[in-house]
Amino acid sequence: MYHWNSLKMVILLLFLLITGLGPVINASPLSACSNCGDFAVPYPLSTSDNCGDKSYKIYCNNDSLEFLSATGTYYKILKIDPNANKLILKPPIILKDTCYSSDLIDGGLVLDENLPFNISTFNTVMLLNCSEDILRSPLNCSSNSICRQFEEKVEEGNGCMNTLCCHYLKDSAMNSHKIRLRFGSCTAYTCLVDFKADDPFETWNYGIELQWIPPKY
Ligand SMILES: *[C@@H]1O[C@H](CO)[C@@H](O)[C@H](O)[C@H]1NC(C)=O
Ligand SMILES: *[C@@H]1O[C@H](CO)[C@@H](O)[C@H](O)[C@H]1NC(C)=O
Ligand SMILES: *[C@@H]1O[C@H](CO)[C@@H](O)[C@H](O)[C@H]1NC(C)=O
Ligand SMILES: *[C@@H]1O[C@H](CO)[C@@H](O)[C@H](O)[C@H]1NC(C)=O
Repeated sequence: MYHWNSLKMVILLLFLLITGLGPVINASPLSACSNCGDFAVPYPLSTSDNCGDKSYKIYCNNDSLEFLSATGTYYKILKIDPNANKLILKPPIILKDTCYSSDLIDGGLVLDENLPFNISTFNTVMLLNCSEDILRSPLNCSSNSICRQFEEKVEEGNGCMNTLCCHYLKDSAMNSHKIRLRFGSCTAYTCLVDFKADDPFETWNYGIELQWIPPKY
């Protein structure tokens, strides 16, 4: 008798766990992740399976927070603003004495369209070493485009000097999951967040701002 009752109890508990409690546990927001180095990791961003929300996966590599692109490249995260659902990535470096961004072989920055992140409309992108085809686009490729200042006054841009370059504000009519590069098109880029016309180059805020769709609970 005693045995039979405890067996029933165990079965009842298992039943509750599987059918009842399981979904409740899965659906409720988990806690924020612990810091990565000195960096707070606000919810819903997630550096591990047992914290944050797994759809918002980022990586803590060597005490530095990183974002993984759809092509498998890690971009360092410079800043996170949880109230605005935004984070800022460090633009890839331009390899020394060339005009190649380090993510050129990946086709530039490519976000996974199934993830809740996109490229915000506060980014001013400079495309460098472009082919003439770019002139058919509505980008600003004039001799007073800010990309000229980047090439002439910023050391990282020196390798791109005297190539065709353009800049544009990433607006909502554009693909918000890509900054595209290609051999024979443009081979390097950099990006500024919250750039205002006439901001002097010494004050430029380099970054690629991403926005995330907040979780729906
Ligand atoms: C980790 O970071 C430290 C300090 O910045 C650096 O010296 C070290 O080379 C890094 N290790 C790796 C594997 O990146
Ligand atoms: C291109 O950008 C420069 C610098 O912001 C600006 O002065 C110029 O008016 C722009 N030209 C066009 C055609 O939009
Ligand atoms: C510019 O791009 C072309 C290919 O589109 C490449 O052959 C050339 O080396 C690039 N220039 C620089 C300075 O990297
Ligand atoms: C990016 O996602 C945010 C949050 O859902 C949305 O408000 C915004 O319109 C999206 N931006 C673009 C350019 O698609």
